[in-house]
Amino acid sequence: MRDAYAFFKAVLKGKNMAKSKGSAFFCKECGYESAKWFGQCPACKEWNTFVEEPVIKDATGRKKTVTLSEAPVTLSQISVETDDRISSGIGELDRVLGGGIIKGSLVLVGGDPGIGKSTLLIQMCRHIAKENHKVLYISGEESLKQIKLRAERIGEFNDNLTLMCETNLDNVEAALKKYTPEVVIIDSIQTMYREEIGSAPGSVSQVRESTSVLMQLAKGLGISIFIVGHVTKEGVVAGPRVLEHMVDTVLYFEGDRQAAYRILRSVKNRFGSTNEIGVFEMRENGLMEVLNASEYMLSGRPEDAPGSIVVCLMEGTRPILVEIQALVCRTNFNLPRRTAVGTDPNRVNLLMAVIEKRMGLRLSECDAYINIAGGLRINEPALDLGIVMAILSNYKNKEIGSRTIAFGEVGLAGEIRAVSQAEMRVAEAVKLGFEKCIVPSVCLKSLEKLKGKIELVGVKSINDLIGIM
Ligand code: TYD
Ligand code: MG
Repeated sequence: MRDAYAFFKAVLKGKNMAKSKGSAFFCKECGYESAKWFGQCPACKEWNTFVEEPVIKDATGRKKTVTLSEAPVTLSQISVETDDRISSGIGELDRVLGGGIIKGSLVLVGGDPGIGKSTLLIQMCRHIAKENHKVLYISGEESLKQIKLRAERIGEFNDNLTLMCETNLDNVEAALKKYTPEVVIIDSIQTMYREEIGSAPGSVSQVRESTSVLMQLAKGLGISIFIVGHVTKEGVVAGPRVLEHMVDTVLYFEGDRQAAYRILRSVKNRFGSTNEIGVFEMRENGLMEVLNASEYMLSGRPEDAPGSIVVCLMEGTRPILVEIQALVCRTNFNLPRRTAVGTDPNRVNLLMAVIEKRMGLRLSECDAYINIAGGLRINEPALDLGIVMAILSNYKNKEIGSRTIAFGEVGLAGEIRAVSQAEMRVAEAVKLGFEKCIVPSVCLKSLEKLKGKIELVGVKSINDLIGIM
């Protein structure tokens, strides 16, 4: 007992010493700072994310004299120029940014390594340079030769684009002040460092400090800065979530590296709506915009297969049709297997329990696999009805019909509840030539206008599906 006490005392003493030397523990997922180590981060609940890093307080000697630089103003005194946005030249990127690049904004582009962040940004640079805006691409990852090789695959560039290999942020700052470009790309934030901070590039404190410096430069000089941030699974490199709160706009580039298409999603936007997505396809000569996402997502769909149905979901203001597939078969185990790819498995379990209870089907004896074809990840409640119908269709081995779509939320009592923007969803189905649409009964009123164009079937509860299928 004594020994244990002495041991803890020694440990505590050690910790205190570390603290007085100026170090702290940071969560490399979310950047939470703490004087002691945690196994699980109290903020983001991730395990094993704490790393110790030195902290240098007041290295730059800020906070010395406080002078009031500007008096507060009223709203009417602030003038807003309308042409503050410049187009990135890529429609899908403009949409996600909220209509173009805002002067003096700081944008974070996050994503797995190799997903195509550098490719997208260099393509953007090409278009901006063509429109006579000065662009500076600062790379800390690739040599100038490597960038040139990539650029050659994409197309011709003019001399408004300049490149630089640099990782020292003081030099970056000097370059921005000297050359005053309009748009700057920092590829990537995890390679940038400031000498005053003792820790290695990529650590939480370096990434944070670098971002705050870039923020001041963007606002002070009116330069739009794009920061690339790699999503990291392991190691001590801080992820992009650490700096999400500091920047104006956060875009994530997602998708299977094996699949050709990529989705650019906006998670935070101080200048536009979030939840917008841009769809791209990776080709050998760079990223191509996918203008008709629904058609793209549905290509290669099996005709009249049991367990397959098309649903309409909303990504921001845009309706997208996707196919849901279900496979239900007798289980060989006591505990049936339930797998969902592209959606929440807990939601699938819940829906299966609702079907079992309300319709009396013995689904607890069955394994079930749900797949959102095309690799999208969706968590919209409007998907529920589609999942239920796909499960029923495969369980009963009866096809639904390839010209039918469905959407609606399913409640625990088996009731089908209304979803938002029903009209836009049905209009998208009409556009792509679907003939029948199964919707919540409560939505029928708002769909009067589309009545002649598509057969509309309203359902009140999942038991109504028996008559339809
Ligand atoms: P990259 O932009 O380097 O990814 P990131 O900056 O996010 O790490 O792109 C990576 C992948 O894209 C790479 O594996 C090769 C592929 N690619 C193409 O298929 N076509 C192209 O024209 C280019 C430039 C890259
Ligand atoms: Mg890159």
